[in-house]
Amino acid sequence: VDSQQQQLIQLHEKAAEVYHHMLVNTAVGQEALDYLHQRGLDDDLIEEFNIGFAPNQRDFLVRVFQNESLDSKAFPESGLFVERENEELVDRFYQRIMFPIRNFQGKTVGFSGRFFATEDVNEQDQPKYLNSPETTLFNKREILFNFDKARSSIRKDGTVYLFEGFMDVLAAYRSGMTNGIASMGTSLTNEQITSISRIAQELALCYDGDQAGVDATNRAISHLQETSRLDLSVVSVPENLDPDEYVKKYGQEAFVKLLEHGKETVFLFKMRYRRLNKNMANEKEQLEYVQELLHDLLDVDSLIEQDRYLTQLSTEFQISRESLQQQLRDLKRQNR
Ligand code: CTP
Ligand code: MN
Ligand code: MN
Ligand code: MN
Ligand code: MN
Repeated sequence: VDSQQQQLIQLHEKAAEVYHHMLVNTAVGQEALDYLHQRGLDDDLIEEFNIGFAPNQRDFLVRVFQNESLDSKAFPESGLFVERENEELVDRFYQRIMFPIRNFQGKTVGFSGRFFATEDVNEQDQPKYLNSPETTLFNKREILFNFDKARSSIRKDGTVYLFEGFMDVLAAYRSGMTNGIASMGTSLTNEQITSISRIAQELALCYDGDQAGVDATNRAISHLQETSRLDLSVVSVPENLDPDEYVKKYGQEAFVKLLEHGKETVFLFKMRYRRLNKNMANEKEQLEYVQELLHDLLDVDSLIEQDRYLTQLSTEFQISRESLQQQLRDLKRQNR
């Protein structure tokens, strides 16, 4: 690690420390702290993840850094500030709950800030989450939220749970499921998949239960199947809930049960997913559905599993197993 990197890490550690201080020790952070408590995060968890609050002030961090007499050469490159037209630097993050994002070594290299609306501050056009920009320190293609902390649990039982967001990872963590990480959004990169593959054998996708989440799950499956040999499964969160909302509604015990015993095979996910936007009363759409699933069956390595699904399709759609099997063989040949 060169000295510039070292300096950037120092800036981030300092920023995380003062944001955390504002959240837990000052009146400015009180409403945000109440909000986090009400969302189920207790003080220990807030401490452990070093969650903070960036006040509604564009020169908060600027002043902190000035007082600390930190070397200002590294400020623009840190991503913690944005440059105004007059070249003046102002804080990037304000009026946000701050989640420090750590690299694999556990060093804070970026932030994601969740906009926090109050009676006084209710700007409509704010994005819900604002992230650090790409910097020499913060490589978005490589970062996975909580990968550093989760690593030992993942190694231990071979399984990793992949969530969409921070609150989902934290909901799992406080339920005792410490092997959860987040892609922070919905698209997985090759770099992230490579890192995961190095320490895990099995990956359970646990994205949000809404349409965006199931679409993202479907995309992630294809990507993971193309680029890794991870054993994949899907945990579907019911009622369009996301994992964090599920914990809120049904409790931690039910959630752990869902994560541990609610894993379904990729093919069963596809069976549900592919009928979502089809009218299954329509003969033509039914046949399309069967055709699509036969394609999906090509990705099922286990013959036992394949056999079982062929029976299921044959029974449900009253198509002979022989025709289904023949069709599958033809597809295999074409796919080579
Ligand atoms: N995200 C982002 N920028 C946004 C929206 C989302 O980077 N404008 C990322 C965040 O990492 C977020 C994840 O995508 O945690 C999932 O998004 P979403 O499901 O919309 O948010 P939640 O995590 O459910 O947010 P919350 O529970 O705090 O409302
Ligand atoms: Mn503290
Ligand atoms: Mn979502
Ligand atoms: Mn969500
Ligand atoms: Mn949520």
